[in-house]
Amino acid sequence: MSLSHDNHADSTSWHDLGDEIAPFDHQDPQLADTLHERLADLRERCPVAHSTAHDGFWLLTRQDDVTAVAKDGATFSASVRGLGAAALFPGSENTVAPLFESDPPVHTRWRKVLQPFFTLSAVQAHEPFIRQLTDQVIGALAPRGQCDVVSDLAALIPTVVIGEVMGVPRQRHHELAQLGLGLMAPTSEQHGREAATGLVDFLRREIAERRGRVAYDSDPLTAVVHAVVDDRRATDDELLKHAFIMFSAGFTTTVDTISNLMLLLAQDPATRQRVIDQPELVTELIEETVRHEPPIVATARTVLVPTTLRGVDLDVGDRLMLAWASACRDEQYVTEPAQFRLDRPRQGRDPGWGAGVHRCMGTRLARLQLRIVVEKVLAAIPEFAVAPDTTPQRTTGVLRGVRHLRLIWPV
Ligand code: HEM
Repeated sequence: MSLSHDNHADSTSWHDLGDEIAPFDHQDPQLADTLHERLADLRERCPVAHSTAHDGFWLLTRQDDVTAVAKDGATFSASVRGLGAAALFPGSENTVAPLFESDPPVHTRWRKVLQPFFTLSAVQAHEPFIRQLTDQVIGALAPRGQCDVVSDLAALIPTVVIGEVMGVPRQRHHELAQLGLGLMAPTSEQHGREAATGLVDFLRREIAERRGRVAYDSDPLTAVVHAVVDDRRATDDELLKHAFIMFSAGFTTTVDTISNLMLLLAQDPATRQRVIDQPELVTELIEETVRHEPPIVATARTVLVPTTLRGVDLDVGDRLMLAWASACRDEQYVTEPAQFRLDRPRQGRDPGWGAGVHRCMGTRLARLQLRIVVEKVLAAIPEFAVAPDTTPQRTTGVLRGVRHLRLIWPV
């Protein structure tokens, strides 16, 4: 499963401008340090680029194209073979995951089933739990004077929060946290693979338990298990794929954003001090982190109806990758996009959270967790730096975070 941070590219790609632009494969480990430069080059010179990697796909890098495709569910389907969400869960190519891979009007019905669990008031109801959990994690961490951000902080919070939101009994939270740790900070490739298999088994049990419940609306997973959409209930395979993507969407994104954010604050003491002095800047800090280093680099779509994009003919069945990480840095909308700036005008354009009907449903939950983590970290550990002799490494794939991030601070 390619959720784990330890995956490596197994294919090569090339670009249809020949030697002029080097190959692009989002899973190429060498892209970790050059992703944004590569995307900027494509944005300028070849915004609809073809790659032969992963059996061939078109890569869209301009914000206008990425958002237009995301908003056109009649021409482009969210159900994609072997790329994006489908690639997270190999062997499930013939299964359409409710919500994530459904298209309107079925998608609209799934969204209605789930929306009540992600409203402002529903999310705020989880705030005391998130605060308590974050206190526990940071309380244990602060006296140590050093940590690995990914395994000692980031991976321990969103995994458990998504479990709480999904109605996983609290006595199973520890098991879930261990699985999250194996996925986000594996000690070996084997460890990462075992964690992915472990999460599938965990979710299979959660789904089975929910089948017997009478309270249909206790949590989002139970609601999906019991929902009747298009005159039928979802099959076991559909539920498992949905749950796997839901848990992944719920925690990997937020774990990666905590890591991205902590790296930024460690390397930029002036910004850190500004946020300590003006706590109201936390909101901007989170939005700019998601713009600058969005945890979801790209997701996929399939062409349903023949169409043309910037002069390129797209045929039925062609697969596209929507590069959200590139849309966030599009020079047409963002001045000096590589710069991290807390004073940017937002103008409602925040493609790091998606666009169109599949736009992120967990934005409020993610923002709440991120705000609590930033506030509590800065209160307990106001000064920290990247440990000397260590070099933080970015991860590659459809998700982007940090593989390991060792920090030190005075105690
Ligand atoms: C910093 C954190 C997060 C970021 C940047 C983020 C980003 C995104 C993006 C870009 C999409 C659109 C994908 C596409 O159109 O192909 C998306 C969809 C989604 N996200 Fe998030 N996400 C985050 C956290 C969360 C959390 C915590 C949840 C909680 C469960 C969540 C739930 C979802 C769901 C359910 C969808 C699919 C909605 C649909 O298909 O209608 N996300 N997210």
